[in-house]
Amino acid sequence: METTLAIIGGTGLTELEGLEILESKTIVTPYGEPSAPLLFGQLNRRPVVFLARHGNPHRIPPHKVNYRANLHALKQIGIKQVVAVNAVGGIHPAMGPAQVVIPDQLIDYTWGRASTFFEDDLEHVTHIDLTWPYTDSLRQRLIECAKSTQAPFSDFGVYACTQGPRLETAAEVARLERDGCHIVGMTGMPEAALAAELELDYACIGLVVNWAAGKTDHIITMEEIQAAIDQGMGRVLRILAELIAGE
Ligand code: HPA
Repeated sequence: METTLAIIGGTGLTELEGLEILESKTIVTPYGEPSAPLLFGQLNRRPVVFLARHGNPHRIPPHKVNYRANLHALKQIGIKQVVAVNAVGGIHPAMGPAQVVIPDQLIDYTWGRASTFFEDDLEHVTHIDLTWPYTDSLRQRLIECAKSTQAPFSDFGVYACTQGPRLETAAEVARLERDGCHIVGMTGMPEAALAAELELDYACIGLVVNWAAGKTDHIITMEEIQAAIDQGMGRVLRILAELIAGE
């Protein structure tokens, strides 16, 4: 059974619970090896491909992920739609821990990452359009799936992508908020831009795992992040199961 749909799992989603793995393939790309072997499997008997963005076990920090190899590997095996799962901090008051957010925009604050396929051996300079960084048809499918789970979620959000791996200062988060950002993560870019360069449909499910820095009067702890993952990842998995069931 072939599929054109892939899931890229982030923090808290190194393995896709319930995935029956039929084949694990190490793919070599012109940009090196992806973070992990691609897992070809079935969820509820429907086919899907899964890639752990940070490797399995989780060991590659956000700024060291080989985003180009990850996206290129998916393209090489014939994937056409990519759903990215990203852990994020919440900035908007309605986007607190365990909340699911399906963003519609992003701002890139990263630096020094290999962020394009269009830089070597060019016949002409290429500037892709990224007005809408997330593919609307795929976003709408995610929104329908999220609605059918009856769990609360946000169908909009501006994702700020910071460099990491450290979390932000309170002043940095205040600036992100002034910029119009609603959630903040470290892995949304260059993934979205690279997907666009490869003409892959791309959409994101953000799981808020903490209030962003300065949004509460305490510091951010790994324990609170883990608790929000435990509380919210089930919601993400239900949305993914719905999506894959419709394949
Ligand atoms: N900031 C950046 N990235 C994140 C956060 C955050 O607060 N939480 C999870 N990923």
